[in-house]
Amino acid sequence: MGVAIRGTGGALPEKILTNFDLEKMVDTTDEWIRQRTGMKERHIGEKETVPYLAANACRRALENAGKTAEEVELIIVATCTTEMLLPCAACRVQNMLGAKDAIAFDINAACGGFLFALNTAHHYIASGACKNALIVGAEVLSEIIDWTDRGTCVLFGDGAGAVFVEETEDGDPSGIIGMSQGSSGMMGKILYCRGRVVKGETEPEINSENLLVHMQGSEVYKFAVRQVPVCINKALDMAKLEANDIDIYVLHQANKRIIESIAKTLKVDIEKFPMNIEKVGNTSSASIPLLLDELNRSGQIVKGQKVMLSGFGAGMTFGACAMVW
Ligand code: COA
Repeated sequence: MGVAIRGTGGALPEKILTNFDLEKMVDTTDEWIRQRTGMKERHIGEKETVPYLAANACRRALENAGKTAEEVELIIVATCTTEMLLPCAACRVQNMLGAKDAIAFDINAACGGFLFALNTAHHYIASGACKNALIVGAEVLSEIIDWTDRGTCVLFGDGAGAVFVEETEDGDPSGIIGMSQGSSGMMGKILYCRGRVVKGETEPEINSENLLVHMQGSEVYKFAVRQVPVCINKALDMAKLEANDIDIYVLHQANKRIIESIAKTLKVDIEKFPMNIEKVGNTSSASIPLLLDELNRSGQIVKGQKVMLSGFGAGMTFGACAMVW
């Protein structure tokens, strides 16, 4: 039984923070940010929460797929920044949508989360446990960023992206044809966020600053350019495809230079790697479905094309998914 994406949706907070705004906050320049990352601006949630953005992205994905909330059987929200510990973001999205018959839960695999959620939904559907699912990546990362650390605060933006997936009918060639994912917990220290003080950890060194995101940027960079091509090649092997058989690569939008390096390693023309990083920055688990939504709505991805999704995140986590659109 196949599993295919039938609709996409995205949602961004209203407020836009430009590189020039950041120049007034930390010791940085528009030129440095553009050259080192490819980013010009990003959206920042002020009143928008993870479930709010996720529900809006889901409504658009449902509309795009021609489905109603009542038909949804599974909702998975990939997030690491939902504002309430309980209930999970997916249950709140279920309530906002009125998707009363859905199973709903969250996955936290940081920026790699969307691919982990998609893989999980694929297994649910392939096993016959359900027929369709809403998969959402949604983040308000601005909540956990240290706005005094120029090495991280210029990189991230907030937003949500969703896809509606369902089982395909016999003879339909569209759908997922190769998947690969993995985790490198041994490298957890290169990108982490303590988030909150827990029992026995109220020592003086635990202050608000070290509860926020900490990153060894160049180590994360090296990890991504080494690991993502390996992961993509595994998904290609499963799909029995070569790197150049893929029409469009939709990669996690962490850094333009990382994407260029991956394209070079795979020996694929950079033209096959569309980007929206300039406008939205790194939106973590939302980045792949947000870009996918842009490409779908603008007609840049068309039926029958071969598409590769791939990304990485804190954990470290990484994943890839090859599909026929
Ligand atoms: N503005 C100006 N200078 C900055 C800066 C900023 N926003 N951030 C860092 N710098 C400085 C550093 O302090 C350093 O200065 P020094 O040489 O005087 O010490 C210099 O720029 C170079 O720093 P470095 O970290 O080597 O730069 P880089 O080329 O590796 O680029 C990143 C930094 C963060 C853009 C890059 O490493 C990166 O994108 N890493 C991956 C991050 C990522 O993807 N995270 C999310 C994972 S999901």
